[in-house]
Amino acid sequence: MTITYRNFIGGQWVAPSTGAYFENRNPADQQDLIGHFPASGASDIDAAVASARRGFEQWKRTPAPARGDVLRRVGDLLAARKEELADLMTREMGKPLAETRGDVQEGIDTAYYAATEGRRLFGHTVPSELANKWAMSMRRPIGVCGLITPFNFPLAIPTWKAFPALLCGNAVILKPAEDVPHTSTVLVEVLLEAGLPPEVIQLVHGMGEVVGKALVEHPQVPVISFTGSTETGRFVGETCGRMHKRLSLEMGGKNAQIVLDDADLDLALDGVLWGAFGTTGQRCTATSRLVLQEGIHDAFVTRLAERAQALRLGDGRRAGTDVGPLVNDAAREKVERYIEIGRQQGATLVCGGARATGGDLDRGFFFQPTIFTGVTAGSRLDQEEIFGPVLSVIKVKDAAEAFDVNNGVRYGLSSSVYTRNVNVAFRALQELDNGITYVNAPTIGAEAHLPFGGVKETGNGHREGGWEVYEFYSETKVGYVDYSGALQRAQIDNY
Ligand code: UN1
Repeated sequence: MTITYRNFIGGQWVAPSTGAYFENRNPADQQDLIGHFPASGASDIDAAVASARRGFEQWKRTPAPARGDVLRRVGDLLAARKEELADLMTREMGKPLAETRGDVQEGIDTAYYAATEGRRLFGHTVPSELANKWAMSMRRPIGVCGLITPFNFPLAIPTWKAFPALLCGNAVILKPAEDVPHTSTVLVEVLLEAGLPPEVIQLVHGMGEVVGKALVEHPQVPVISFTGSTETGRFVGETCGRMHKRLSLEMGGKNAQIVLDDADLDLALDGVLWGAFGTTGQRCTATSRLVLQEGIHDAFVTRLAERAQALRLGDGRRAGTDVGPLVNDAAREKVERYIEIGRQQGATLVCGGARATGGDLDRGFFFQPTIFTGVTAGSRLDQEEIFGPVLSVIKVKDAAEAFDVNNGVRYGLSSSVYTRNVNVAFRALQELDNGITYVNAPTIGAEAHLPFGGVKETGNGHREGGWEVYEFYSETKVGYVDYSGALQRAQIDNY
């Protein structure tokens, strides 16, 4: 029997106003129908906003430590349901269980961090320039936050946004990617079970062009956080700019792993396999470029191709699977277009380059781990985000050229350098134009308690995670108390 899921609006699980639904299927097995989810309309967003505004009035008056207590319980519940959640996430978007367990763990970490922030949420007290006058800043909630999240970290990314937003006292409307509606449904169940007042959270499923757009354009949603493509992010940014909304954007990447001649090559090999082919390359932090110094280039490529071809593709819920499917057919077609582009631009296909077929693989959107060598800086394989298991290898003379290649793209999320030279390592930290640089570790590995985000066209200056995200979801207010009993004019009476 097919399960029909609902939105969570106005404190209840409700059918969409449109009466329309979309199918959610397992990308490893297209026969496996997970359920029908609401293809909501703009009026569902209107209803969610009206309810969230009521929720906000209640929640903003709840003391921050008490809000933190709810999030601690959320962390406990996610921990108790970790295995179940990992399984449904793999079924929904394909990455192997070890990875979806990590995704859940990131949500747990984010919840516990938020819980402790409930007892900080610091303002500043500073001396006034006038005698008998008190000066301080404090943090205030903002209102209804619209959160639009992608498929690749179906639990972690919604928690990166929702938990700090809630801890700061805001109400949340979540619009998850169409490929992963089930995970968000369970996340909302967990929030409610933990004791979050129902109108503080709203879940509206549907298409980005309909409900995502309605959320971004709604005048009573002053905060938007979006993770997705740079192209969609541009539309979101234009609308938010016009409407003076607070906006956090987390978009594309074209992350490089640099391996220099003096590196520990075994370590670098493990790193690039995980960075490039983990999550089937569908990460903003995926290693999509491998920049090799010429002395080790040929031998490294030979070993890498051997290891890449030995990766076991399959259903991520089956033990032994290294790489799952792409999330949907459009993703696979996009990867195929880039294989053609690579060929046309004269890169050499070392391995992969085609759909993975045969047996159970025919049921899903599988694609062979693919490596191109001879990729030149400035070519499309060097410049454009593919979001699939395709690695472009670029040969360089030295560290300085490697840094130039790393920086020569419009994105700037993460980078990685493998070297045993401490001077070069520190120079990389300083010179590489990215929000995150790893030394002797792959381009993926961000931790929940540090700021996450990128420079250039990857983002718009905000960070998720860590302490910085709490500034995004709260407004600074300053309070002055003059207890002198007299009119004291700042800048005038004291000079
Ligand atoms: C992403 O790549 O889309 O960087 C998010 C990491 C993860 C999050 C990645 N924790 O390691």
